This record gives sequence, C-alpha cells and structure tokens, in this order.
Amino acid sequence: MAVLASGRGSNLQALLDAISAGTLDAGVVGVFSDRVGAPALARARAVGISAHALSPRDYPSRDAFDAALFDAVDTVAPDLIICAGYMRLLGAAVVAPRSARMINIHPSLLPDFKGLRTHRQALAAGASRHGASVHFVTAALDGGPVISQVPVPVLPGDDETSLSARVLEREHPLLVETVRLLAQRRISLGDDGVLLDGRSLAGPLQL
Ligand code: GAR
Repeated sequence: MAVLASGRGSNLQALLDAISAGTLDAGVVGVFSDRVGAPALARARAVGISAHALSPRDYPSRDAFDAALFDAVDTVAPDLIICAGYMRLLGAAVVAPRSARMINIHPSLLPDFKGLRTHRQALAAGASRHGASVHFVTAALDGGPVISQVPVPVLPGDDETSLSARVLEREHPLLVETVRLLAQRRISLGDDGVLLDGRSLAGPLQL
C-alpha cells in the first residue's frame, strides 16, 4: 500500500500496528503528504518506511501538484492507495486511472456530511448518529462508492472534540478491516458499485 496523509497519521498508525501485530497481511511501501511537517511522515520513517512530502506552493496548479505527487507514488508501485487523512481534493486526471485501487476514510456516514468539519456539521444538524465510511475514490468530493461504515452515537453534551474522538476510535478498526478485505481481494469495484466476493453489495458493509 501507499498511504497519503496530511496530518496526525493515526489511521496510518493503525495500519502499521496491525501489520506489525501480524493481523493484517499487507505492507506499507511509502507514505506521501502535501504537508512537509505532517506527523504521519515521522510515523513512517520511525519504522523505516520511505516518506515523501511535496508542497503545493511549489507547483503552478492543482493538476501539476497531483501529477508530481502520483509520479512519486508510482515509483513504489503500490497495489492499493489509501487516503488516510489526506485533506486535498484530487483531480480526475490522477483519480480516474486509479479509482479501483484507491480508497479514502471519511469521518461521516456518507452520503451525509461530505467535506470538512464533519463532526461540527453533524452536531449542527442535530444528528443522533454519526460515524465513518471507507469508499473508493472518485473525482467527486467524498462521493465514490461506499465500501464500509461504522455508526457512532451522538451523545447529549457532545462537542466537536468529544464526538471526533469517539468516531476516530472506530475509524481505526474500520480502516484496518476494510484494507484486510481488499488485500484478500474479496472487495472490488465493479461497473455498478462495490462487489464483495464478486457479488454486488446491497449497502455498505457495517464493520
Ligand atoms: C480522520 O478523522 C479522517 O477520517 C479524516 O481526517 C482525520 C485524519 O486523522 N479525513 C477526512 O476528513 C478526509 N475528508 P489521522 O491523520 O489521525 O488519521
């Protein structure tokens, strides 16, 4: 796997921990970021994984940045590309050829609350349930076919901090379990959406 991450890297760490515990039969071959100081890069380097950051400011356009980023990703020839807290929109030119092997974890029950500050969005909407989703990446913002979800209750007195912490705790196993299914080649992207063992999913897997 190649992992794309912009910040803290706790989802990357969950993957690394599962790999080192022997519960995920996969490997991270490179970590890539749009932020030079992203803690995710240090997490990778700490276990000897190559980590690269490119600064969008050094490129004349989003497409030029995306192209350079994926030139770097291609050098490690990943089977899967995992967006784990990667916070920049990716353009169609880099996404379309890779959709079937690129996933993203998003902190909401998609299609609810796309975009940023999802916990704040959920609280403002008065939602009683929130959660996280893993989906194949398309050029539509948080819009690709959803593979798996985990619901999390919104509790009285919740604020953004408490709700995001409760969701994050469930994101980690959700991502690891979904990557496990992909690594086992049980999940794939068909013409009409997500396939599990070659059959269309009726709805997202509840993991
Ligand atoms: C996670 O909550 C992830 O779902 C979210 O950013 C956080 C990254 O945390 N991703 C998005 O909002 C993408 N739209 P991490 O860096 O500790 O894994």
